[in-house]
Order: sequence, then structure tokens, then C-alpha cells
Amino acid sequence: MFEPKVPPISRASVVQGFRKRYGADPESVVRAPGRVNLIGEHTDYNDGFVMPMAIDRWVWMGIRRRNDRWVRVRSIDLDAESSFALGDLEGPEGDWIDYAKGLAWALAEDSHVLSGFDALVSSSVPVGAGLSSSAAFEMAVARAFVAVSDMAWDPLAMARAGQRAENEWVGVNCGIMDQLISAGGRAGHAILIDCRSLEMTPVPLPRRVAVVVLDTSTRRELAGSEYNDRRTQCSAAAVACGATSLRDVSPAQLDTERAAMGDASFRRAQHVVSETNRTLSAGDAMLRDDVAALGRLMNESHRSLRDDFEVSTPALDAMVEAARAAPGCLGARLTGAGFGGCVVALVAAGQVEAFVPHAGKSFTAATGLTPTAYLCEPVAGAEIAASD
Ligand code: GLA
Repeated sequence: MFEPKVPPISRASVVQGFRKRYGADPESVVRAPGRVNLIGEHTDYNDGFVMPMAIDRWVWMGIRRRNDRWVRVRSIDLDAESSFALGDLEGPEGDWIDYAKGLAWALAEDSHVLSGFDALVSSSVPVGAGLSSSAAFEMAVARAFVAVSDMAWDPLAMARAGQRAENEWVGVNCGIMDQLISAGGRAGHAILIDCRSLEMTPVPLPRRVAVVVLDTSTRRELAGSEYNDRRTQCSAAAVACGATSLRDVSPAQLDTERAAMGDASFRRAQHVVSETNRTLSAGDAMLRDDVAALGRLMNESHRSLRDDFEVSTPALDAMVEAARAAPGCLGARLTGAGFGGCVVALVAAGQVEAFVPHAGKSFTAATGLTPTAYLCEPVAGAEIAASD
């Protein structure tokens, strides 16, 4: 069930693909990573804290500047090609190119004058698994625009543009976590992000542990509407507490307003308020190298997401159980928006080889599903790939 540690896409394979499609070498190769969130789920749009890490799976793009302000993207994985004129974006098309078009739109709204390019794209970020393949695509496109246009690489500005593309062009009301970690990741570190100030604090991943992502192979369904519902419930809970966001609500205040708020809003808010505290505690635990405490906080995060925020599924719960029963597991929780996708497990570094098949077998016995495991390293954010 193990997927190769780093899937076989390389700078050389992207150059070769570009040459085959466009008959010349690309001027640059850029790449932007996917991410796994260690803890801090559904807190970004509540002005809270998150702690993701960028992972060694990337959206790769070979690019060559064009002089006519057209963007053409050839996707190897989708075996598809799409193009658009920067001067005439019209509206969304309802497919994958919208992430690139939406980003061009958002950057133009920010008064950037963009040049066009030809691109060949290939990705090792699993799609729809909750590992932010779309944010990685957006940040690869952002890195490409910076490479061909007269613009500086500013991870925060690019992440904001990516979020705006999702919110206003693609129609997904996401927070800023995914774009920000794909743009601003740091090798060897998770990043504690304050989603209000957008301050990013790198926290070294303890050497004694490995991060294993376990893909249930189930995909999100109804995620868009359920996700937006959760956002609405969180805002309503904040209003009931007289606050602009749940970041400003204390556990005591939440208890006081409990009756007025109704049970569902209370439980949603309880998750967010407690998760924000857990995320800060997790950052401290990592700095102290207290991996047992980090694992416990991850376990508690899953309970809260399952019972209070209600974004887990039977498959995700079964995977969490399977992971916790496997050798070396320190903690496990669903990661990303929920409703399907992946579990992140913290595993004692020496036990990964025993952990993966054990967790996989118990999960299959419980569900009949075939999972995949990705052993993930924390990597840098979007960059020009100078060598393999
Ligand atoms: C998705 C969104 C993020 C965040 C997570 C849940 O990944 O894109 O902004 O809200 O869900 O933590």
C-alpha cells in the first residue's frame, strides 16, 4: 500500500514533456507543494491557528514566456489542454483551468501586469484527497507568473490571490491555510500560522517521528455545501457571543451563551475554540520535543472533529482506529476539510515499516477498502526547481 516516497516526477521529466509538446526547452521549471495539516482544522476561517506542513509532493510546471498575453496549459495527468487570453478572461469555465484563470483574475485585480506563458503541468499531489492539490496548482501558476512577469515573489500576497481565486472565481469559500503553506512552507518544519495576523512561525518537526498520511481512498462528497454550512454556523455562533470571530470567544463565554445558541452551533463553536487552544499546545509540545503530547492532542482533535464539528465519516474513523492500533502510532486524526480523504498519523520513526501494513490490513478488514500510505517530509514552499 506504500506509494513511493517521492513519486517519479522530476525536473528532467518535466523538461522532456515540455519539449515533446512545444518543440523547445522550457525557460524555467517551477513547482509548488501540497500540504498536510498536523492540527488546527476548520480554524483558519475563524481567525484561529493552524499547523500544516508542505509535503514532498508537488505540482510541477515547465514554462516559457509568450509575447501575446495568452496562457496555454497542457496537463499530462488529465491528458488535456486549455488556454485563455489575459486581456479577456470572461468568466469561469467550470473545470480545472479555472484555478489558473481565477489566479490571473485575482492578480490583475491587485494591479499586477501579467505576461502570458506556455506551460506543461504534471502533479504528484493526489487529487481530492484533502492534500491541497488545487492550492498547489494555484501556487505553481503564481510562481510561473512571477517568473515571466515583472513581479516579485511574495508568498503572502500570492496566497491571498489564490484564496480569492477560490472564493470568488471557483466558488469555494475556503480559508487561507492551503495556499499559504504551499507558498510559504519551510523544509524540515511545520508552520504555526496565526490566521488573523497571518504571522507564520516555523516549528521543527521532531526527528524521532515520521508523518504518515493514510488515504482512505474515499473522496469528499457534498463537501462544498457542508463546508460552507460549517462556516455559516461558526459565524452565527460568534455573533451569538457578541464577537466578530470565534478567535475572540473563550470557553467560559461559550458556556454562558450555550442555551441561547442552540446545540449544533454550540458544538461547532466548541470544536473551534478548543482546536485553537490545542493547536497552540501542539506548537509548544513540538518545541519541547514532546511527541507523546503532540500525539494526544491529535487524537483529541479527531474526537472533536467527529463528535462536535461532525465532519468525519465511517471510513475516516475506521482509519484512525486502524492507525492507533498499529505499532509506533503516537496519534492520528482526519486531516483537511473532512467528509472523506486522508488521516494523518504521527509514527515513531523506526516503526514506519511495521506501522503501514498493520494499519492498512486492519482498515481493509473493517471497511473492505484499499488504502494508500504516503510517507511525507516537510519541504519548502513554491519555488523555481533549479535541479532534481
Ligand atoms: C480546506 C480549506 C482550508 C481549511 C480546511 C479545514 O482545506 O481549503 O482553508 O478550512 O479545509 O481546516
